[in-house]
Amino acid sequence: MKRKIIIATKNKGKIKEFKKILSDKEFEISSLLDISDLPGINEDGNSFEDNAVKKSGHIFDLTGKPCIADDSGLEIDYLDGAPGVKSSRYYGISTPQSVKNEKIISMMKGAKENKRGAQFICVVAFTDNNEKKTFEGVCKGRISDKQKGSNGFGYDPIFIPEEFDKTFGELDEDVKNRISHRAKALRKFYNWFVKNK
Ligand code: IMP
Repeated sequence: MKRKIIIATKNKGKIKEFKKILSDKEFEISSLLDISDLPGINEDGNSFEDNAVKKSGHIFDLTGKPCIADDSGLEIDYLDGAPGVKSSRYYGISTPQSVKNEKIISMMKGAKENKRGAQFICVVAFTDNNEKKTFEGVCKGRISDKQKGSNGFGYDPIFIPEEFDKTFGELDEDVKNRISHRAKALRKFYNWFVKNK
């Protein structure tokens, strides 16, 4: 029998990836897009872990159902780790993503190849009636000098993962869902879940 689990997000890009990454596992997944009238969550924590735990705990409290949330973002070495935990709010929550990506490209204009390092981080938090647990995934890479490709979401068109020469925006979605920060965190979650739940 499939186990019911809620993903505590309305981000369509994330929901698609969660469903794909967990598709061969025994889960019946719903997201906040399937549940109406839930109050929003203020992501004001100082770390990915704080925010992920807050989101999954909040939705578990409201629904009583096992819940996973991810808090994720992009850390760019050249920008001292920005946008980091503020990735979704960087340059304004309603600023189009392509404008944010262009802003980063212009701030990094002239930065040499060895100064363009960056990493995506994802912390997945699980909450049920007797447990809270977190799992981290990191995907290292570099920032491209142009936006390229339309796959994925967010900063994907400017991020080139290690050992590739194309952005996540250009790479096949199956590649991203194998090597991404989210895939790594969810694999850790799943390995723990099957042993403990
Ligand atoms: P939050 O976890 O809801 O605070 O949002 C994280 C933000 O980080 C997203 O809105 C994206 O801008 C960015 N982000 C997180 N994961 C990814 C990814 O896999 N690709 C591109 N951008 C991402």
